Amino acid sequence: MTGTTAHIGLVGLGVMGSSLARNFASRGLTVAVNNYENEVTTAFMAEYGDEGSFVACSNYAALAAALAPPRRVLLMVTAGKPVDLVLRALTEVLEPGDMVVDGGNSHFPDTDRRVAEAAASGIHFVGMGVSGGEEGALKGPSMMPGGTRASWEALKPLLEAAAAVSDSGPCVTWCGHGSAGHYTKMVHNGIEYGDMQLIAETWTLLRALGHGPAAIRDVFTGWNEGVLGSFLIEITARIAGAKDPQGDGPLVEQILDVAGQKGTGRWTAIDAIMRGIPLSTVVAAVDARALSARKEDRLTAAAAFGEELGAIEGIAADDLEAALYAAKLMSYTQGFDLLRTASRERGYETDLAEVARIWTAGCIIRATFLDRVHAAYAADPDLPLLCLDPGFAADLTARLPAWRRVVAAAVSAGIPVPALSASLAWFDSIRLAEGSARVIQAQRDLFGAHTFRRTDAPETPVHVQWSELEQL
Ligand code: 6PG
Repeated sequence: MTGTTAHIGLVGLGVMGSSLARNFASRGLTVAVNNYENEVTTAFMAEYGDEGSFVACSNYAALAAALAPPRRVLLMVTAGKPVDLVLRALTEVLEPGDMVVDGGNSHFPDTDRRVAEAAASGIHFVGMGVSGGEEGALKGPSMMPGGTRASWEALKPLLEAAAAVSDSGPCVTWCGHGSAGHYTKMVHNGIEYGDMQLIAETWTLLRALGHGPAAIRDVFTGWNEGVLGSFLIEITARIAGAKDPQGDGPLVEQILDVAGQKGTGRWTAIDAIMRGIPLSTVVAAVDARALSARKEDRLTAAAAFGEELGAIEGIAADDLEAALYAAKLMSYTQGFDLLRTASRERGYETDLAEVARIWTAGCIIRATFLDRVHAAYAADPDLPLLCLDPGFAADLTARLPAWRRVVAAAVSAGIPVPALSASLAWFDSIRLAEGSARVIQAQRDLFGAHTFRRTDAPETPVHVQWSELEQL
C-alpha cells in the first residue's frame, strides 16, 4: 500500500512494538511500521504482513509520507537516549501539528523536557504509559497518555480501538497535561511492586503455616474469586502449581530469591519522598527487592545469626487474606494520594476516578478491587484518602484484628513481612491524632533552636533554652 493513508506509525518493532502494531491492524487500522534495523521490519512483514494492513517504511521520511496528517507516530523504543534520537530525527520529517507518542517506561522529567523540545517545532509530544506486557499489547493494554488535550482528541479513536475493554469502557484516558501519562504509569508500577511484595510475603506465611505448593495454589485460586480477584493473584496461583521442567517439585522453589528491578518502583518511591508523601508500602517493596539482591550479605548474616524461625501461631489462611486485602488498600490509598498531590503540584489535572477505571483491565495491577476505587472517586472526587470511603473504611475495620494478628505472628516467628507491617504502621500513624512527633520537635529545638508549636497556641513558633528548664 502507498500514499498518505496510514492511520498510525509505529517505530520500534521489538516485542511490545510489534504486538501493538498487530493490535492496531487487527482493529482495521493501517499501520506504518519502522525499525532502526531494516531487517527487523522485513522480518516483521514476513511474519505478520498478512494479518492486516501494514506499510513497511525503511526510513522516517517514508514513514512521514505514509501517514495521513496530522500524523500520529507511536514510539516503542527503549526508554532513555533512543527516544531522544528518534524524536529528533522525526522532528526533521514531521510537520507542525503532528504527534509523537512515547509508549515506553520513560522517566517523567525526560518527558517534560521532550514535550518542550518537540513543541519548539510545533510537534505534540505525548508520554504514554502502556501496561499489560506482550499479551496486553497484542490483545488490549491499559494505556495512560498525557500531553495536550488536543493531541488526546486526535489519538483517542485509535487508542480506544486498541485498548483493553472493561465494563466501564476502553482502558485508556487522558491522564493530564505534560508528563502526566508517564507519571501515572510510574505510580502504576510502584503499586505493582507493592502488590507483588505483599503477595510474596503472604505466600511465605502460607508456607510457614504448613501449606505445600498445591495447597498454596488452591488458596490463591480461592482468593482470586473474592475481593482479592486480580491478575497478580491469578498468576501467583498458576506459579504455585507449576512443576519444575527439570524435576518433580515446584519450579518456583528452584528460582534464586534475588529480585530484579528496572527502576520504575524506585522512581515512584523517590518522587514520593521528595514530595513528602508517605508511600510506606511501595518503599518497603523497593527496599525488599534491594535486600533480596544482597545475597552475599544475607548468606554471611545467616551464618552469623542463624536462620531459625519460631512457630507461626494464632493465624489461618483466612487471616492472611484479610491482611493482604487491608494492606493492599493502604498501598492504593498511598498511591492515589501521591497521584493527587503530584497532579496538584505539577498542574496535571489528573482525574483519579478515570485512572482507577483504566486500571480495571489490561494492566498488570488489574483487579476487581479497582472497580470500587473507581466508584469511590466517582462518588467523591475530593475524597482525602481512599481508605476513608465508607465502603473501604468498613472493609478495613472488619479486617484490622486479623491484620494485626498476622503481622504480630510473623514478627514473633522472625519472618520478615516488610510491606504488610509498613502498611499497618502507615495506617496506625494516620489513624492516631496524637503521635510521637512532639519528641522529635523537642529534640530539634534543643539541639538546633528549630522551634516548636505548643498545643495551647499552635500558631506561634516557640523556642526555649532547654538547659535552663527545671527538671521534674
Ligand atoms: C507493565 C509492567 C512493565 C514493567 C515490568 C518489569 O505495566 O506492563 O509494569 O512496564 O516493565 O513489570 O518491571 P520491573 O523490572 O521494574 O519489575
